[in-house]
Amino acid sequence: MTRTKVGVLISGRGSNLQALLDAAADPAYPAEIALVMSNRPGAGGLSRARAAGIDARTIDHTAFENRESFEAALDEGLRAAGCEIICLAGFMRVLSAEFVSGWPNRILNIHPSLLPAFKGLDVQRRVIEAGCTLAGCTVHIVTPELDDGPILAQAAVPILPDDTEETLSARILEQEHRIYPAALAWLASERVRMVGRRAFVDGTSAIGALLAPEPDYSHS
Ligand code: GAR
Repeated sequence: MTRTKVGVLISGRGSNLQALLDAAADPAYPAEIALVMSNRPGAGGLSRARAAGIDARTIDHTAFENRESFEAALDEGLRAAGCEIICLAGFMRVLSAEFVSGWPNRILNIHPSLLPAFKGLDVQRRVIEAGCTLAGCTVHIVTPELDDGPILAQAAVPILPDDTEETLSARILEQEHRIYPAALAWLASERVRMVGRRAFVDGTSAIGALLAPEPDYSHS
């Protein structure tokens, strides 16, 4: 089985990157992490990648004259490493429409809310303040609109009365680590079909696929 090469872009601690590295450690998993790049020097995720023997680089956006040259460096690194899919895993830079259009339906993002609600930053604080009873996370295909694009997987968690931003974030993160490897596996093994704004996995809606038994990575 040839595995699809994936580049992961990070900015911080990299716990989602770790979930992807752990999934890809299984030879039956349809994707392999070929490259990790961080826009922040010293991001914790860089050491996680190196510990797994993965090429990990810092592409510091502040060292570039503009967004175009920063993104050109990312693009060049990803293509030179043979990546066919990009996973954003806590990558806190907005990618331009030009960059995104070079990777049509090939960029995944994870966001700590049940999109399309609570796009943007400070999600966990805002969702508690709004008085919601459910929170969650979403893996979606990246389009030029921020935190938008076809949804591949979502998981919901309760918001408990004594939750703080930290306790809720931890509960959501546990689910992020479940759904991100699953969604990447579906995209890497060409099991995703797009109909307008909707993504279908194996002909069923993405959420239906999530509720089904654990994904079979060996499926081709
Ligand atoms: C995760 O909660 C992820 O959903 C969020 O940043 C965190 C990164 O954690 N991403 C966004 O808010 C993107 N809009 P990690 O570095 O431990 O994976």
